Amino acid sequence: MTNVGILAVSHYVPERVVTNKDLEEKLDTTDEWIRSRTGIQERRVASEAETTASIAIVAALRVLESSGCAATDLDLVIVATMTPDSVLPAISCRVQAAIGAVNAGAFDMSIACSGFSYGLAVGCSYVSSGLAKKVLVIGADVMSQVMDWSDRGTCVLFGDGAGACLVGQVDQGYGLLAQELGSDGSGGEHLRIPAGAGARPMGSSDIEKKDLSLQMNGREVFRFAVQVMGSSALAAAKKAGLSTEDIDLFIPHQANARIIESAAKRLNIPAEKVFINLHRYGNTSCGSIPLALSEAVESKRIKDGDIILLVGFGGGLAWGALILKWGGVPVGATKAVTA
Ligand code: ACO
Repeated sequence: MTNVGILAVSHYVPERVVTNKDLEEKLDTTDEWIRSRTGIQERRVASEAETTASIAIVAALRVLESSGCAATDLDLVIVATMTPDSVLPAISCRVQAAIGAVNAGAFDMSIACSGFSYGLAVGCSYVSSGLAKKVLVIGADVMSQVMDWSDRGTCVLFGDGAGACLVGQVDQGYGLLAQELGSDGSGGEHLRIPAGAGARPMGSSDIEKKDLSLQMNGREVFRFAVQVMGSSALAAAKKAGLSTEDIDLFIPHQANARIIESAAKRLNIPAEKVFINLHRYGNTSCGSIPLALSEAVESKRIKDGDIILLVGFGGGLAWGALILKWGGVPVGATKAVTA
């Protein structure tokens, strides 16, 4: 099996900032409530002209630019999203065409906020098995499209954003050390968009606007999230032969600061080893982990040889934890070493 890891990572967020104060003007909510219950201060919201594909394309072009990888060298483009531009064509095919990845296969993955964890695990499998040499794994969502902006219990939590990773061969001992993916479809009702697809298609007479929006049982999701963040991280650490004390940086799905703090406490990971940027972006769903990873690399919170824990969770219900040893990028594999 080939050692596989992340060669480079980039991100893109829309320019428009919507603060909690802005939401106070439209909703029965307060900046104080949102900050204290979630940690979120502001989020990015896509312009009329932006879609999930368009923000995914910018993130993709940025990671190709920063790594020096030619689009024609990509073997596969995977896009994790829960807000595709359309049912057909897949976003991954739109990205593949826009960036000129003419030698790449492409497919989308739909597993809500765990999407990037799943996408990265699958992308790594293609490389480690020898089926691909370079894979682009993108997590992107325009959550503002699926918000009921009158539902204060959900719309304050989410934002729009995209992140992209170039996955390829790394030196011996580096890269993906372990992964733990899981799902529990019996909890699917806790996070859902009830209509707009096969069982209740658009245009059905009983569909209201809220049925096309994300609906959530916040308390249940909170409980689930704290539990699976802990259990999946421990399972991945065990597979890697590590303890949570060996983790240098924990980059969790950025849903709620209280969820992250509870999970970190359970895992015995101190606050200084936890990366949080949700105060600026809210929950960007599939964009969340690669956006955080990209900012962690940019701000030099990650150095070569660090052990990184990524944990996603969300609708499905589903979750995915991955442990990587950062760096080990072969000389010449990227024009700018990212760690
Ligand atoms: N502003 C003011 N008050 C509010 C707001 C708001 N924006 N939202 C809810 N409230 C009120 C509620 O109506 C309730 O009022 P009541 O007591 O009079 O009924 C009160 O605040 C407390 O509500 P709770 O739901 O108990 O608040 P809680 O502390 O649980 O926080 C929250 C709610 C933030 C949603 C939390 O449960 C949470 O973060 N859950 C997890 C959500 C999550 O991670 N989702 C992402 C999943 S990823 C994916 O796949 C999409």
